[in-house]
Amino acid sequence: MSEKNIKELDDIKQQALLGLSSLGSVDQLENWRVRYLGRKGDLTNVLRGISNLPIDDRKIVGSKANKLRIYLEEEYQVNLSKIKSGNLDIQDAIDITLPGRKVKMGRLHPSTTMIREIIQAFNEMGFQTVEGDEIELEKYNFDMLNIPADHPARDQWDTIWIDSDQHDDLLLRTHTSPMQARVMEKNDPQVRVIVPGKCYRYEATDATHEWHFNQIEGLAVDTNITFADLKGTLYEFVKKIFGPSRKVRFRCDFFPFVEPGVDMSIDWNGRWIEIMGAGMVHPKVLEAVGYDTEKYTGFAFGMGPERISMLQNEITDIRHFYSNDLRFLSQF
Ligand code: DAH
Repeated sequence: MSEKNIKELDDIKQQALLGLSSLGSVDQLENWRVRYLGRKGDLTNVLRGISNLPIDDRKIVGSKANKLRIYLEEEYQVNLSKIKSGNLDIQDAIDITLPGRKVKMGRLHPSTTMIREIIQAFNEMGFQTVEGDEIELEKYNFDMLNIPADHPARDQWDTIWIDSDQHDDLLLRTHTSPMQARVMEKNDPQVRVIVPGKCYRYEATDATHEWHFNQIEGLAVDTNITFADLKGTLYEFVKKIFGPSRKVRFRCDFFPFVEPGVDMSIDWNGRWIEIMGAGMVHPKVLEAVGYDTEKYTGFAFGMGPERISMLQNEITDIRHFYSNDLRFLSQF
């Protein structure tokens, strides 16, 4: 009697293992489990019949059947996790049937693009690019530019001062003009520099004012530099950026570090739009850096690249430049 049962158990094991080898999905494995280990499964049938066997056979068949049950249950678990991890691999794999998609490219910030375009125009006219620090000494930001402490012109630049134990004269530069003094202090004439950089002002923001923005400063000092050179250079610049037939206008303006001082406007659909301040370098500024004012003269200018970009690209609010909104930035 028991021989028959043992043969039966061997057959079950053989078939079960054969069945396992061809399983590929959780569903198939579940069918396998039901067939061999389920309540009406082959092995369960044998186990059920054990109580009808003679006592001696019961032990032998019972223990063999139980071992087989444990073995098949283990096989079930092992195969279940194999199939599951196999499925995970498939999920993580690259789906080569997906159609190709355009790679998203980063691009330069519109301020950077404008700054580079302006610098390029001046580089072509022999100006060299230099940069300065955004944290500046009061002396360079004001005093050496002929703006003494009690001068009302200081009010024109609302300053963000820096709290420091060691210094009471540190500020965030309000313009790029301090680099005029720094460059001249370090170099003898001739000087031809263009200075891009970030500036800061303590002021309320609106569509045309930001508390931080870029400026581009220019300075040329040499023998025999006249107001005609200023006009010629700046007119050439406008032609490069705004096209050869653009009209320009110079009007008197006041900046303490130039004399005479002007502002330059360009014709914009029949309106004059101011794009920069400029002038002949004030003799006091040249004196402050030790230049011989009998021998040397120069001109200087300063402009806001964001404002120029606003004109070119019909941008109505300067705050867009620094709001980091991709809807704005991705238009450039
Ligand atoms: N620094 C001036 C400002 O921030 C702009 C400026 C005006 C610069 C005239 C110059 C200049 O070099 O000559 O308003």
